[in-house]
Amino acid sequence: MSSGATPSESVATRVATPLPWRLDCHIGAGGEAAVADELRRALTARRPWIPARWFYDDAGCDLFVRITDLDEYYQTRTEQALLEDHAPEIVRAHGVAELVEIGSGAARKTRVILDAMEGAGTLRRFIPFDVSPGAIAASAADIAAAYPGTRVHGVAGDFGRHLSRIPRPRQDGRRMVAFLGGTIGNLDPPRRRTMMRRLARLMRPGDCLLMGTDLAHDPEVLVRAYDDARGVTAAFNRNIVRHINAAYAGDADPEQFAHVARWNARASRVEMHLRARRDIDWSIAGLGVVLPIEAGSTIRTEISCKFTPAGVRAMYEDAGLALTAWHEDSLGRYALSVATAG
Ligand code: AVJ
Repeated sequence: MSSGATPSESVATRVATPLPWRLDCHIGAGGEAAVADELRRALTARRPWIPARWFYDDAGCDLFVRITDLDEYYQTRTEQALLEDHAPEIVRAHGVAELVEIGSGAARKTRVILDAMEGAGTLRRFIPFDVSPGAIAASAADIAAAYPGTRVHGVAGDFGRHLSRIPRPRQDGRRMVAFLGGTIGNLDPPRRRTMMRRLARLMRPGDCLLMGTDLAHDPEVLVRAYDDARGVTAAFNRNIVRHINAAYAGDADPEQFAHVARWNARASRVEMHLRARRDIDWSIAGLGVVLPIEAGSTIRTEISCKFTPAGVRAMYEDAGLALTAWHEDSLGRYALSVATAG
């Protein structure tokens, strides 16, 4: 031909082949000054406590997975069943294209939501956020392989500092932020409020928040969920001592602490503590402290708040979100709820 058009065979075509998954890691080896300061302040407070992040080293993540399989720990299987029953309708109602999961851990429940998105034909991207880079790496690779064509963009960070590192929502589809497992209950009221507002900031109008909350019910059942017969939760609690020893050259024997779970009715929460079986001087060289711990005294390691429906609704409203769906199990022990940004 005389036009000089380039034959198609010679046109170089660049095919963009994005990596199936990526991971942005904002977590250091525990050596960051802010993390050390937070822990030092907590351990030397008048009522000593330990931030929950110290549960979740690799051993702690494994122990937590074992907790979720315990008979006494009804929360995980109840939430899983609620998701299986309701994820498809929630995903369809909101046209969810992108899932941001806060505290994704081993991402076992994630698949129920991703399956619903795939079923609705809207699945585009999955953004797992967790304090454990190892947990994200393992789950991101699995998910990328199981849902070809889905972008997986993991972010390893902690709730307090790194939520703003979550990538911006895409223009071409709605986002669901999932905060499951009842983890919102691990924050005290001021931190909970801040967290909810930060979650709301990840959302644009039309996006939704899917949250799991453990409900206030029989204190005996609640306490047993945190003090199981096989001692898995006790091991999970003591592992926090081992983790701190390893991170900061500490010398306490975890076995010198007894596991305590108790119901605090006034605050509507289960608390876990470590109680010194005898006088302990816990030297933590990397923090520059020696903690004198009297026999019988306790260090609080976790709060797990239990909610009422009205309490959950108020929590959403305070963050500028509106409750749009509520699903609880037949025993009234656990709820899955949805709120939207207006
Ligand atoms: C899943 C992190 C919310 O508070 O129930 C389980 C953690 N601690 N057993 C909870 C936990 C002890 C759990 N979260």
